[in-house]
Amino acid sequence: MRIADDVQTNAAPGRDTATAARGVARHVAIIMDGNGRWATARGLPRVAGHRAGVQAVRRAIETAVQLGVEWLTLYAFSSENWRRPASEVLDLTGLLRHFLKSEIAELKAQGARLRFIGDRARFDPDIQLDLGHAERDTAGNTKLNLVIALSYGARAEIVAAAQAAVREIAEGRFAADALDETRFEGFLSTAGIPDPDLIIRTSGEQRLSNFLLWQCAYAELVFLDLLWPDFGAEAFAAALAEFARRERRFGARPG
Ligand code: FPP
Repeated sequence: MRIADDVQTNAAPGRDTATAARGVARHVAIIMDGNGRWATARGLPRVAGHRAGVQAVRRAIETAVQLGVEWLTLYAFSSENWRRPASEVLDLTGLLRHFLKSEIAELKAQGARLRFIGDRARFDPDIQLDLGHAERDTAGNTKLNLVIALSYGARAEIVAAAQAAVREIAEGRFAADALDETRFEGFLSTAGIPDPDLIIRTSGEQRLSNFLLWQCAYAELVFLDLLWPDFGAEAFAAALAEFARRERRFGARPG
């Protein structure tokens, strides 16, 4: 059986009909959680969990391509993660540095277009450069839009968007009354990216942890009882199948 066979249509309004016909959430965003617990359970250092987490990232990307998910957003590093012990921050940024050097060719071959959201200015200059290279090198790809959230926090994103909007209003570019939801979205780091249809969080924790708070207003949330390094095609398909069973109402009453 192909992984997608039991995944039914559950379309968001206005979404691409070809994707809807294939019955897959157009935009899946994942809170990758549980690397540390995975390592601890095996008597390994936490970095081993993060390394295994990178393998799971590879599997998630491959599966997204296979299943025809158009947008995949991965929460790789939150703005709060900077508060972890310096050695763990170094491990995580080291893995990111390595990922950017070693994976871009493969991502290009897979047809993935990369985009990063979050405060990239907090990373070392060489990482910032590689983030820009990765975006430029993959800009022509259309098979999968891969968004990686790095040093990302939704509240900071919303405040920055509000500041940018207020600046433009003060400059007389548009009137305060003309600031509606659509215009405001244009100031977010996700401008141009469709809202997630489905948020998956691994590790059994059931919270959003400052992830895409504006964008997931109508997202379906699926919490999986497995740790991120154990995530693979089966878990991805199970989450999509659960998504397909949900009745999405977008605030309306059932017909
Ligand atoms: C949560 O596990 C995971 C993270 C804080 C980092 C996620 C990072 C990766 C999967 C690897 C790097 C990714 C890329 C794209 C290079 P946790 O450490 O909070 O686990 P715990 O809750 O069990 O302690």
